Amino acid sequence: MSPLQIQAFDAPLGAEVIGLDLARPLADQAFVRIHRAHLDHHVLVFRDQRITPAQQIAFSRRFGPLQIHVLHQFQLAGFEEVLVVSNIKDEHGRPIGLGDAGVYWHSDLSYKAHPSLGSMLHAQELPETGGDTLFANMHMAWDTLPAPLRAATAGLKAEHTYLAKYAELQKRSPWRPDLSDEQKAQVRPVVHPVVRTHPETGRKALFVSEHFTTRLVGVPEDESAALLRELFAHSVRPEHLYRHAWQPHDMVFWDNRSLMHLAAGCPDDQRRKLYRTTIEGDVPY
Ligand SMILES: [Fe+2]
Repeated sequence: MSPLQIQAFDAPLGAEVIGLDLARPLADQAFVRIHRAHLDHHVLVFRDQRITPAQQIAFSRRFGPLQIHVLHQFQLAGFEEVLVVSNIKDEHGRPIGLGDAGVYWHSDLSYKAHPSLGSMLHAQELPETGGDTLFANMHMAWDTLPAPLRAATAGLKAEHTYLAKYAELQKRSPWRPDLSDEQKAQVRPVVHPVVRTHPETGRKALFVSEHFTTRLVGVPEDESAALLRELFAHSVRPEHLYRHAWQPHDMVFWDNRSLMHLAAGCPDDQRRKLYRTTIEGDVPY
């Protein structure tokens, strides 16, 4: 393979990593470059990676401990660290994976006390049309936030909960089973700062999302809802976005501390399947 190269996209975030085969052990020197590139570009795309779930897990673990998703029914058999993201149903009509993952803008696991550092998705089956993933640069969203909004959000905290949109998703999809009491206990609401500091780069980022953020703590309900709406709208302005069009065997690794993302969806009759691993991050501050 050619030497390792990092090629930035002509976009507000993202880069392609060229010349790295993730099926082979990653040398420490290469790891340092990948780590740096991830901090600089927030999304890394590794094309045409023929890797096994075990290899995806091993690569993910280089960045930290892995998180196990609350929907255990969609773990890949034999690999509890892998969440199957898919709209495919088995021969009994049962979904094989989470089919409506990420249909709202969000940062993965922001509803946990330790939200995710980053996530990796490896493409297994892709639809002919659609299925793109959009990413929003939340450092940029903070840097460009109009002064009155900056002043209004200074020092605020927000509540995040997995259950915010759960009932709504349940109504329109077969992928959202009723949660057991044990599952509910794993996803109790948490509170995080509205503006967080990236623990490795020191850069500030907006950290609220349409999917999981329900309210601003200590702010009257209507004011809180109005302010959150403005923050959401500003975050996803077109100039903050990169849209990833998947190619076969793509591996995509993003930084949840710097970004939000959204699954654009694909036609129901087309099969889509990806494997996700999620790396645990710090408590936001
Ligand atoms: Fe996600």
